[in-house]
Amino acid sequence: MEQTALFEKIGGIMHGGDYNPEQWLDRPDILAKDIEMMKKAGVNCVTLGVFAWAVHEPREGEFHFEWLKEIMDNLYENGIYTILATPSGARPAWLDEKYPEAMRVDASGHRAHHGVRHNHCMSSPIFREKIAIMDRKLAENFADHPGMLLWHISNEFGGECYCPHCVKRFQNYLAEKFDHDIDKLNHAWWTTFWSHRFNSFDQIEPPYSNGEFSIMGLNLEWKRFTTWSMTDFMKWEISVLRDVKADVPVTTNFMKLYDGLDYREMAKELDMVSWDSYPAFHNDRETLAETMLENAFDHAVIRSMKPDRPFMLMESVPGAVNWHPFNKVKRPGAHRLACFQAVASGSDTVQYFQWRKGRGSFEQYHGAVVDHLGTDDTRIFKEVEEVGQLLKKIPDVAGTIPKNQVAMIFDWDNRWAIDDAMALAQETKNYEKTCMDIWDEFMKMGVEPDVISSDSDFSPYKVLILPMFYVLHDGVGAKIKDFVAKGGQVLATYFTGYVDKDLLCHLGGFPGDGLSEVFGIISEEIDTLYPTDRNAVRFTNGKVCEVRDYAEMLRVSDAEVLGTYETDYYGKMAAVTKKKYGEGNAYYVACRMAATDMKDLFVEVLSNAGIAGKDLPEGVEYHVRYGAEKSFEFYLNASGKQITLSGVSGKDLIGEKEISGELILDPCAVAVIEK
Ligand code: GAL
Repeated sequence: MEQTALFEKIGGIMHGGDYNPEQWLDRPDILAKDIEMMKKAGVNCVTLGVFAWAVHEPREGEFHFEWLKEIMDNLYENGIYTILATPSGARPAWLDEKYPEAMRVDASGHRAHHGVRHNHCMSSPIFREKIAIMDRKLAENFADHPGMLLWHISNEFGGECYCPHCVKRFQNYLAEKFDHDIDKLNHAWWTTFWSHRFNSFDQIEPPYSNGEFSIMGLNLEWKRFTTWSMTDFMKWEISVLRDVKADVPVTTNFMKLYDGLDYREMAKELDMVSWDSYPAFHNDRETLAETMLENAFDHAVIRSMKPDRPFMLMESVPGAVNWHPFNKVKRPGAHRLACFQAVASGSDTVQYFQWRKGRGSFEQYHGAVVDHLGTDDTRIFKEVEEVGQLLKKIPDVAGTIPKNQVAMIFDWDNRWAIDDAMALAQETKNYEKTCMDIWDEFMKMGVEPDVISSDSDFSPYKVLILPMFYVLHDGVGAKIKDFVAKGGQVLATYFTGYVDKDLLCHLGGFPGDGLSEVFGIISEEIDTLYPTDRNAVRFTNGKVCEVRDYAEMLRVSDAEVLGTYETDYYGKMAAVTKKKYGEGNAYYVACRMAATDMKDLFVEVLSNAGIAGKDLPEGVEYHVRYGAEKSFEFYLNASGKQITLSGVSGKDLIGEKEISGELILDPCAVAVIEK
């Protein structure tokens, strides 16, 4: 399904969120008020039915969709479209009572009791049968509804299941993967170590909490299998819906850098990617601008899963959540900033969890557009209303996309493998933080990197950043080599290219798979520093930068040395190198320095690539989206003070005035400059 059709229906940016009228069916007065208030807030779409199974089917085989039809009709008549969810995120009690095998088994082998949500066994045949009946009925009843926009499959897929059925599927999955040849698996997992050899696939168990955890290849395959199994479940739901009507697009809402599933694999099955964003605004460790940047990184990860189209912000909260360690309220203005950051990053939607607070139970204090007070004059309602008005000023932004020339490789396999590796120091591995810190540095220079997988097409990019790029999938070494040879700029750090896709170490020197030739170095040792240990790098221009946590000792075969260590037995050895390879350059940073200390290197890499940055005041974020005829520059002021930017020109669609040179932004103000 063409996602453009989706946005044509709306005619601009989507604004709305999760709406749970099923909790209020005995209060028609409230349901009527909802519509009026939605119109006031500029809401043009809502997500319905995420957890409505027990209302759709209160008893097995007894279906009630009249209420949903009435709600959808009413919304549509009032100009509000529906994103309709399949309700597999939570099961009714009758289902678990009759079919306990639908409930998950945890890593210790215990089956869960009924309750909570997001906890079905993804391979259970009976659960699949039941959700298929439900999804088919939903599609038959609503896929042709004029207000129907897209399917929201389940909710926040996550977790794993160790039930006997899943274990058997894991064994079958492995047998398929290793061509039914147990010796292939034994070799890939290096099982002669500790007498771990298997005679058959049936002997392999998942990594139970009281079982096998010492085979790195097995641990990684279990994660891959869980992703495969969850994707398979999602595909099952999608296939049922498509069987009824093929051209309604599908999405599912991902979670922030969720570690348990490789969402990139799931994204391949979706028409649109979407996610739920809940930053810890105004926390006691970061500035607002820093919190915003962390969130911008998450947007970039999601966006980059389908870089050819906008993504969707599916959930966010205008007030406070209820599940952070400290549920601080979003300060005035922060909501506007966060909403426009999503759009600036490539989202065509601003959606909330939730429209109205539920009166009881687990989320009764979770923020919402409408509070228990129930009126449209609260601070939060007014801020949402303001966002609704502002979004109406930028309809042409919908459908445009960022087109970035810099990309960072950030792989789920890499996360899992680094986390699991018996090396370095658990406390300071910090893979995600290392990536984010480097990413932030580019953003501060006005250059937004995509965050891609090593399996992605590198051709749209001029610069590739490879922080701690530990796992090399087959062919990736050759791809990087080709990228640099043809003029690309690559910058890699310590802990790059140690293992192959099965986590077997590359022989003959790290980084392996041909990359030591590209960088002109071999990393012979890696030192893990205690948290209080320090070393330093002295660059050839005399600048000295602190080194913490990790330092590799390089054999330099064929590269220029840009910096050397200051102390220890590796004092004077190379710490930062550069090699011209073909038409491009390959930089290697062998130790952990603060990303701010790497700025000069980043500037050099960008300048080699002919990419001009921007001189941005501290705390101002900059993004660009491109359309066929127009582009839109976004400036977001998270600095906490009034800022004057120079060199800005074009029409500010938010301030509704021409800017020629100077743009003044108040705290939390945003500007969208049309070019
Ligand atoms: C999301 C979830 C919603 C709601 C929200 C609260 O993770 O999808 O259903 O629970 O969190 O922040």
